[in-house]
Amino acid sequence: MIKVYNEESDQASVEKPKDPHLFILFGASGDLTKRLLMPAVYNLAFHEALPDHFNILGLAKDQMDDAGFRDKISKDLQEFGKRKFDQSLYEKLGPNLYYQQGDFDNPQLYEDLKKKIEEFDKKCNAKVVVTYYLAVSPAIFQMISNHLGEAGLSKLENRTTRLILEKPFGRDLKSALELNQSLHQHWAEDQIWRIDHYLGKETVQNLLAFRFGNGIFEPVWNRKYIDHVQITVAEEVGVEKRGDYYDKAGALRDMFQNHILQILSYLCMEAPGSFSANAIRNCKISVLESITPLTEEEVAKQTVRGQYGPGKVKDKDAIAYRDEENVDKQSNTETFCAFKIFVDNWRWAGVPFYIRTGKHLKEKVGKVIIHFKAAPKRLFKIPKTDEVLTNELRFFLQPKQAITLLLKAKIPGTKMSLQPVKMHFDYSESFDTQEGGTSTGYEILLYDAMMNDPTLFSRSDLVERAWEITQPILDHWSKNPPADFPNYASGSWGPDAAYKLIENDGHKWRD
Ligand code: BG6
Repeated sequence: MIKVYNEESDQASVEKPKDPHLFILFGASGDLTKRLLMPAVYNLAFHEALPDHFNILGLAKDQMDDAGFRDKISKDLQEFGKRKFDQSLYEKLGPNLYYQQGDFDNPQLYEDLKKKIEEFDKKCNAKVVVTYYLAVSPAIFQMISNHLGEAGLSKLENRTTRLILEKPFGRDLKSALELNQSLHQHWAEDQIWRIDHYLGKETVQNLLAFRFGNGIFEPVWNRKYIDHVQITVAEEVGVEKRGDYYDKAGALRDMFQNHILQILSYLCMEAPGSFSANAIRNCKISVLESITPLTEEEVAKQTVRGQYGPGKVKDKDAIAYRDEENVDKQSNTETFCAFKIFVDNWRWAGVPFYIRTGKHLKEKVGKVIIHFKAAPKRLFKIPKTDEVLTNELRFFLQPKQAITLLLKAKIPGTKMSLQPVKMHFDYSESFDTQEGGTSTGYEILLYDAMMNDPTLFSRSDLVERAWEITQPILDHWSKNPPADFPNYASGSWGPDAAYKLIENDGHKWRD
């Protein structure tokens, strides 16, 4: 996972963050903490990638003392951690976990925190870097941020303080602007670390490595050579236990506004002048600035929404979305969406990006397919029945991690006939991907925050621009409720209209 290339020894090694750190974890008894954050911290401990002085102060409403908290986390790690639990490792990590019971809306809690921070300073014999991690419902982000700010905890003299929070950052443009304004009252932008867990995925980061580590693709990475691009982020799971949240969100807010626009910006950005966080983020934002928000007519023509009905996913019976727990029986929330959008700049003008994402689809897969234009003159016979007439570069982001280039090759024999063949690179063949199986995806994000590297975190302007692109679709969809929900069977590839969206242009989804 976190390996730093050491030029002197030619060896990859893990560099430990140097500063002593205190994570103040709001929501220490919640789901995010037990399923993802603590397993990620445990993995960092396993890799010896935590600073020498690393402490967590968990905050929640539950009555517990430090010993009870350590005991709880040990049990959670055994139940939810992906790495085999090692008691001797936990004996090193566990004593650095502390707990304080409290009501997040009570100013007294924040007064107590000030004293606690000083106690940690004494323990570490230094001014600790304080990271407030909000593993809580977004509904109370602003409340906690305000309390921290009013208690003077956001800007502490001679000390680095950070606030980490996770999507959703608002539920529309207006609320996202309000959230940012409210955060900025107490925090400078570089203190706010917004997590989009897709940026922590190896293969999403590898899009950058592929594009800018290999000189041979950049010259063809544009409208002259690329015909269209397909992005699919499909899930087999339904809404599981998250009906309450999801029914108010839907696929557009849940996946498109954040994860998919992040992938798109990596695919389309210009080469940054350096690999610094701001250089990369500036290039990403200019991609989003080149996407003109759709007009009403364009939303009607270029977007599709869907909701799953009953069906079978991987041979298992699956219920309809409207029958899920905590979902309105008449719900019009979309569990699928598809789009045709354009990145209107010199590099990409006229190249359609077909995008689809949804739940209860046939297969869990994240993939990006770059369809190149055909050779200018067709010299060879290619069977008409052959689906792949042009070159395709396929990035498999998850669960399989691979890159495939489709080429034409001559079929051996007396005739000059061609057939598509594959040049294939599979991560698991070239790298030790065992580690990937134990990773939560949060390791690199927590580590980068401690290393003060915000590259993989979202900046406020990017979040706001992503909402500007999403807002007209939200508006049009809410003004025009769908008449045909549910309109796709669980276990299919989505509604018919998603096929028409691409087939009307003479293309086909690569399922
Ligand atoms: C989350 C969404 O951000 O991403 C979930 O809220 C979705 O609804 C999840 O299931 C998908 O993440 P991944 O890593 O499984 O592709």
